[in-house]
Amino acid sequence: MVEYILSIDQGTTTTRAFIIDNKGNYIGTASQKFQQIVPENGWVEHDPETIWKSVCNVIGKVIKKSGITYSQIKALGITNQRETTVVWNKITGEPLYNAIVWSSNQSLEIINKLKSDKNEAYIHQNTGLIMSAYFSASKIRWILDHHEGAQKDAEKGNLLFGTIDSWLIWKLTNGKLHVTDHTNASRTMLFNIHSLKWDETLLQLFDIPKVMLPNVYPSAYYYGETEPERFGGIAIPITGVAGNQQASLFGQLAFQSGQVKSTYGQGTFIVMNTGTEAKLSDNRLLTTIAYSTEEEVSYALEGSALISGRAIEWLKDGLELFEDIEESETLALEADEKSPIYVLPTFSGIATPYWEPDIRGAILGIDENTGKRELVYATFESIAYQVRDIIALMELDTGIELDILRVDGGAAQSNFLIQFQADILDKTVTRVERLETTGLGAAYLAGLTVGYWKDLDELTALVSESEVFKPNMLKSKRLRKLKGWHNALETIRYYSG
Ligand code: G3P
Repeated sequence: MVEYILSIDQGTTTTRAFIIDNKGNYIGTASQKFQQIVPENGWVEHDPETIWKSVCNVIGKVIKKSGITYSQIKALGITNQRETTVVWNKITGEPLYNAIVWSSNQSLEIINKLKSDKNEAYIHQNTGLIMSAYFSASKIRWILDHHEGAQKDAEKGNLLFGTIDSWLIWKLTNGKLHVTDHTNASRTMLFNIHSLKWDETLLQLFDIPKVMLPNVYPSAYYYGETEPERFGGIAIPITGVAGNQQASLFGQLAFQSGQVKSTYGQGTFIVMNTGTEAKLSDNRLLTTIAYSTEEEVSYALEGSALISGRAIEWLKDGLELFEDIEESETLALEADEKSPIYVLPTFSGIATPYWEPDIRGAILGIDENTGKRELVYATFESIAYQVRDIIALMELDTGIELDILRVDGGAAQSNFLIQFQADILDKTVTRVERLETTGLGAAYLAGLTVGYWKDLDELTALVSESEVFKPNMLKSKRLRKLKGWHNALETIRYYSG
């Protein structure tokens, strides 16, 4: 009987499932979009039950599409949108509130109240993070604050917290396992990335009872088995878990220190493997856990451009400049480059390296020749500028000069974007043939644990075809464009006070 790995990729807007064979090929894929709940401007929530149902649906669909049976699944890997926070009742299994999504800023006030030089320094040194409402800690606090009796209930051990991986594993095992992995824990702002334990000082700072937190294990680890009733009487081992940006680094087979990937989705996330060293950034990048096995923990530096693919969607749906996302490519190629404009799609603040949630976007440099083509190309360019700036900081922090940037994710389909990325970086960019490296990464972690693949070397040998984009822009032009971008950034920072 041929065996496969099942991988679930539970992302911010879409839930996906993949069946993967031992060569790293996709045998089947299925996906489902789900509802984004926006109760107020700047808040973003998901219904945890809807997420769970979407996972069950895509698993059913992918098994059917692949023409295999549950008994052929050797192991299950899970990867997920990170930081998104669920609190649920341990006895009834009911969520206390919607999942508060990573991009939501409803807990900003909690952060602002607790912000001090001392707390910021402690958080940076021990969690590797910047004190921000992006991470789970203040989201948990917000949920406990907004439900009468919740704090007491949590203290009694009746409430559980989890990121989406925890929630899904709890559901898949019928409430038997309340767990997470090192990569997801490292995004809560409550986890000490050096001792690999929940941090007592931070639990106290946010007044979060430890009893509500999941047990933390390596990303490649035998967590347990799914409840047989879920999948036709078959218990599937859950053996790989990682947050989605770490999973895509793993899926890119970037196991060596100094290797960097950039995933272009709704936002763009750039992660550099720094090996076994938890390198703290001097330039306001995040330090995070890249992946872990029972033997070893690998760390990473990370930076993100919060709005990227979403900005292209805004041109399509918000400004109605075109009907089909594919048209954006043609429009960008037809643009008149003689009227250089800058689009700054900072709809909900800037993350790396400024961490200024109140900044809003702008379009600068328009003249009467500016049309939709120019807006499209400048929006694509804005994505690449942000990635370039983050990589420059990674080089500064580590002293490593990047040779190749590995790219993936839906928006990386755009040749215009990726060529401009190579040009503005002045570096080679490689684009993997299979852009869904996130699901692949979770599958690799799960497969490693059960011996489906022997070790990292065997995985490295699976390398698939990559397209290569070489830089092809005059230095003078590159520097001029970069100067304009940085001036534009300063303008919006000044404007937002
Ligand atoms: O940190 C947030 C990140 O995990 C979201 O990823 O691809 O689901 O938008 P994505």
